[in-house]
Amino acid sequence: MPVRKDTLFEQYLAPIARLFIDEKEMKRLHDSIDWKAGCDRLTDPNLSYPSYYKDQNFHGIEGGYLTIGAATSYDPITQYALPPNETWVRQAAIDAIQGVPSRILDLGCGTGSTTLMLKQAFPTAEVIGLDLSPYMLTIADYKAKQANLDIQWRHGKAESTNFAEGSFDLVTASLLFHETPTQISKRILQECFRLLRTGGEVLILDGSQKTLRQTEWLTQIFEEPYIQDFANDSIEAWMGAAGFEAVQSHDFWLIHQITHGVKPLPHTESENFSDVEQSAWAIA
Ligand SMILES: C[S@@+](CC[C@H](N)C(=O)[O-])C[C@H]1O[C@@H](n2cnc3c(N)ncnc32)[C@H](O)[C@@H]1O
Repeated sequence: MPVRKDTLFEQYLAPIARLFIDEKEMKRLHDSIDWKAGCDRLTDPNLSYPSYYKDQNFHGIEGGYLTIGAATSYDPITQYALPPNETWVRQAAIDAIQGVPSRILDLGCGTGSTTLMLKQAFPTAEVIGLDLSPYMLTIADYKAKQANLDIQWRHGKAESTNFAEGSFDLVTASLLFHETPTQISKRILQECFRLLRTGGEVLILDGSQKTLRQTEWLTQIFEEPYIQDFANDSIEAWMGAAGFEAVQSHDFWLIHQITHGVKPLPHTESENFSDVEQSAWAIA
C-alpha cells in the first residue's frame, strides 16, 4: 500500500494511530482472505471508475480505496473515527428507521459494518451492499460469512446503480457523502429517490456538517478531498431538492449527523397549482 509521506495525517496522526491499532489482527485478516478470488468474484468488469474516485487519495493513501491495504486498515482506523463507540453511532442511525423494510440497499457500504447491522436489525429483509471498491466488498463479504449473515454485494456506482425503479423500501448511506463531490452527492440522493417505492425511507449517517464547519483544521488533517465542500452544504437541502419529504436531521454526540427522509406520494396536478392559479380556476 503506497502511502504518501508528506500528508499531515502521515506526519502527525498515523504514528499515534499505529499505537492503538492491532497490527497482528490486521495481518491475520489480510492473510485469511483469498483476495484474488474475492476481487475476481466481486468485480464488475464493465464498470469504469469515475475520476473523482480513482484519482484521489483518501486518508493520505495513494490509490484511495482501490488497494488491499486501504481495505484491511479501514475497520481498525474507523473504530476511532466514530466516538464514543462505533456500534452505538451506527445503531443510532438504524434506530431512526420508521418502518420494517423488506428490501434494503446500503450505498457505499465499504467493509459492510452498517450493512451487517441492518441485516441483524431486519433479519427477514433482502439486504444488498453496493460499493465502488472490490477490496472493500471482499472484506464485507468475509465479515458477513463469519457472522453467518446472508447479504448480497454489488460492485457499482451509488449515483447510477442499475437497480429497478421503486424496488427498495429503505436506502442507506453511512460515511459516504463527505467523500463524494457535492454534485455526486446530489445525484446519489436523486438515485435514492428513484430506487425507493412510495413511502420508502432514505437514511444518511455522516459527519455533522455544522460541527465540521467549525473545525476546518480537522478536515485538513484527515486528507479528505471533498469534506470542506460537504461541511459547507446541507444534506437536508439536497434531500428536499431530490423530492424527499418529512426530512429530519439531528446530531449525535455532536460530531455525527443522522438525516432521514421519506418518498412521498406523487403530487397530483391540482396540488401543484399555486393559490392564485387555484382561485382563478375556481372563479372560472
Ligand atoms: C468512508 S467509507 C464508508 C464505508 C461504510 N459505509 C461505513 O460506514 O464504514 C466510503 C465508501 O464509499 C465508497 N464510495 C465512494 N464513492 C462511491 C460511489 N460513488 N459509489 C459507490 N461507493 C462509493 C468507497 O469505496 C468506500 O468504501
